Amino acid sequence: MKNGSQISRRGFAKILGTSAAFAALRPSLSMSAPALRLVSGASPAAAVVRLSSNENPYGPSLLATKAMTDAFSLAWRYPDEHEQSLVDVLAKLHGIAHEQILPGNGSGEILKVAAAAFTAAGKKLVLANPTFEAILAHARTAQAEVVNVDLTPHYAHDLPRMLAAAKDAGLVYICNPNNPTASITPKDQIRAFLAKVPGQTIVLIDEAYHHYVESNDYESVIPLVKQYPNLIVARTFSKVYGMAGLRCGYCVARPELIRRMRDQQTWDSLNIMALVAAVASLQDTEQVEQGRRRNSEVKKYVYSELDRAGFKFIPSHANFLMVDLRREVRPIIAAMHDRNVQVGRVFTALPNFMRVTIGTRPQMETFVSAFREVMA
Ligand SMILES: Cc1ncc(COP(=O)(O)O)c(C=O)c1O
Repeated sequence: MKNGSQISRRGFAKILGTSAAFAALRPSLSMSAPALRLVSGASPAAAVVRLSSNENPYGPSLLATKAMTDAFSLAWRYPDEHEQSLVDVLAKLHGIAHEQILPGNGSGEILKVAAAAFTAAGKKLVLANPTFEAILAHARTAQAEVVNVDLTPHYAHDLPRMLAAAKDAGLVYICNPNNPTASITPKDQIRAFLAKVPGQTIVLIDEAYHHYVESNDYESVIPLVKQYPNLIVARTFSKVYGMAGLRCGYCVARPELIRRMRDQQTWDSLNIMALVAAVASLQDTEQVEQGRRRNSEVKKYVYSELDRAGFKFIPSHANFLMVDLRREVRPIIAAMHDRNVQVGRVFTALPNFMRVTIGTRPQMETFVSAFREVMA
């Protein structure tokens, strides 16, 4: 996916010569475990600290790993019943009907089918700038006009301006917390927006980083689906559940919207491994709390090191962080890479900011020492 001169995640990895041949050593859940090591196939000895894609370095729940091992023998079967099991568990978790849930091959697939269903020539997409841009590419494929609305000076969505643009839009995309800024848009502003947006405009709120938020100004809008027939809420198993490589996400909405999105979806797009792992993850009573706590502790360490080094950052409500370098990020990304630390790509709206995923404590110690060297 490309957004103007912005480079996609995959394109970026290729430029750095690290795309295809990564093999991840399965991370252990124990606190004393070594940091996740990613080894380039081209150069097996070189350990790369990967802080570029907002992944969860602690990996999936052990319950998920066990469920997948047990499911190997089912690989010959289509995944229908397993998808149904996930829907059952999610329906109970959120207190909604089965018809209100659509699982997807990652929440990326949810964004794709939403763009296909609700944008087209004459049905524009409204989204923030900068934000997670996957849906923008899909809307362009659907021939839709795209309206970018700059974030506010506090890095929240500028909802009054997005509302003005939404009057004749097919779809409004709100990413909360927002990627790449890790900022939140306060709950009262989201509620005011939903109350005013025209009923025929669909609003998709992406809660990929929901579990990491610790602010009272934030809420999940899943309970508001009952109230707003035009609301879709997307979630993923790629972040706190550590399943980015497995591909599983879902959305919650009224049945009519779910039907329209399902019409755009590949049949059987989720695989059995991802489905059993997702169900097992939801049964792990500790993973989310532990993930949030670890992320928060390591983030505090990074905050304090950045303070000591004299760098400001956008307060983060997610598992990544935007650091203000006060100079162009592009050469710094390359210099970090030379020291085996991969950080996020360039975001054209914030060319002096570096996006860094919060990894494990040892990973972030490596980051801090490389960062100090590069910025000296
Ligand atoms: C805000 C946001 N939404 C969706 C996704 C896609 O996640 P998934 O792995 O579920 O496709 C990402 C991935 O980084 C993201 O940052």
